[in-house]
Amino acid sequence: MLFSLAALVFLPSIFAATVEKRIEKRSTFVAVDLSRVDTRDLLNRAGYEECNPPRTDHGLYRDCRARDRSAFPARSAECFCAQCAEKSFKLFCSAGKWYLHPDHYDLPCKHCNNKACTQPNRQFECRSQQIGGAKSVKSDCTCLHDCLDYDLECDANGQWMQKKFIDSNGHSFVCNSEKKVMRLGYRSIEYDKGLITVRCEKGYKTDYHNKLSCINGFRNGTIPECILEQRSASGKMSNTTLYIIVFVALLLFLALVVVLSVLLLRKCRNAERSEITESPIYATPGKAQSSN
Ligand SMILES: *[C@@H]1O[C@H](CO)[C@@H](O)[C@H](O)[C@H]1NC(C)=O
Repeated sequence: MLFSLAALVFLPSIFAATVEKRIEKRSTFVAVDLSRVDTRDLLNRAGYEECNPPRTDHGLYRDCRARDRSAFPARSAECFCAQCAEKSFKLFCSAGKWYLHPDHYDLPCKHCNNKACTQPNRQFECRSQQIGGAKSVKSDCTCLHDCLDYDLECDANGQWMQKKFIDSNGHSFVCNSEKKVMRLGYRSIEYDKGLITVRCEKGYKTDYHNKLSCINGFRNGTIPECILEQRSASGKMSNTTLYIIVFVALLLFLALVVVLSVLLLRKCRNAERSEITESPIYATPGKAQSSN
């Protein structure tokens, strides 16, 4: 009796609390801004902000999960398309909003029936045709932000995506305009504020210019290779050898001069001495003879 009375009093308040909680939860869902086509720079500037779950009220996608944590709030999320659940996409949190990760050219849920990659990727300027089946790779694509070359791959969502690019040091790089230094064999390629500088390991040199400018995706030349510095390497060696030879020759010459002058001096002195010592022997009798 007392228990049911207590239940009568408490149940509505518990119910109210649940409703309130649900309302509160819904209101903390965070807006997804899909209007920005290129979010690379936004992602570069994003710090360690975390967002509550993405709002999914337009029916395009659902089932958003936190990617970097077990639950929201999180920095990145993955959502699945409502019409084709096998396709998913990534979102990242910036300034209290969710944005489509720049890896995606477009929202994949808009292309649920697409199997092949038919549209270009806005981040790249490719020299080959922009159509390919799943998993096909397109090389010779220049990133419009840093003017460096990357490979693209047609992913399961029917989008051309940058293939993971890993340099000789095991660092991975993405197409963006951030400062970077990639190591590729004997080459190191530096990008910094619109300037590309190629440096070679010791013993190697660039086959031509080593500085290129990058303005709005336009590079004023091809990125040079590093070639063996044969001529200069042997030149350096022969230069030192030449110096040594010249030095030794000079030393020998000096020594010769010294020896010769010493010899000459000695000869002169000997001659003088013999004149002095010999003159009384021969001159006196001679003189004596002549005087006789
Ligand atoms: C490209 O531009 C940079 C910066 O202005 C310059 O240093 C370089 O010599 C240029 N290279 C070519 C090949 O014109």
